[in-house]
Amino acid sequence: MDISAMFKLSYGIYLICTENEGKRRGCLVNTVFQLTAEPVRIGVSVAKGNMTHDEIVKKGSIGVTVMGESADYHILGPFGYRSSRDVDKFEGVPHHMDINGNPLIDVNAVSQISCTVEKAIDMDTHTLFVCRVDDAQNVESTDEPMTYKFYRDVRKGHSSKYAPTYVDPSKK
Ligand SMILES: Cc1cc2nc3c(=O)[nH]c(=O)nc-3n(C[C@H](O)[C@H](O)[C@H](O)COP(=O)(O)O)c2cc1C
Repeated sequence: MDISAMFKLSYGIYLICTENEGKRRGCLVNTVFQLTAEPVRIGVSVAKGNMTHDEIVKKGSIGVTVMGESADYHILGPFGYRSSRDVDKFEGVPHHMDINGNPLIDVNAVSQISCTVEKAIDMDTHTLFVCRVDDAQNVESTDEPMTYKFYRDVRKGHSSKYAPTYVDPSKK
């Protein structure tokens, strides 16, 4: 199998967030995608090793922020490479709570989606959360949505071993 064929799949850059008992948590993912139109459903693949995974299981809903190309590394960095076990990722980051009581990021965002988990499908290392969209809005912005390709090629961002698309460099 030529694993590089998988690199031609397209993705975006998203922050998925929850709040449980007053604690706001979340992480960066590239794997949010629309599953159905009627009703509107999205899927997201989350590594079991991420704290956000257990927080989503506990809460049963997610706030998704679609990030723009100008998104600041001071936000993407902690969300993508640090764990909420060690840092408060929301300190100093403008956000508001959605209809399910989950955080939506208000800076460098192009749209925001609130959803409820309908199914959690076990994928060994990850869980595929199938979610019903409860609410969605565009954020006033001239920014384009950031693609994973833009993040890698233009912003020189790296992947994470917890991304479902991660490839061990020694196996490339
Ligand atoms: C570009 C990029 C894409 C990522 N995509 C995913 C993903 O789709 N699913 C996932 O579970 N983690 C993904 N991650 C990894 C998490 O963002 C990372 O492990 C984070 O530190 C988890 O934080 P937490 O422990 O607070 O949940 C990605 C990271 C980066 C940098």
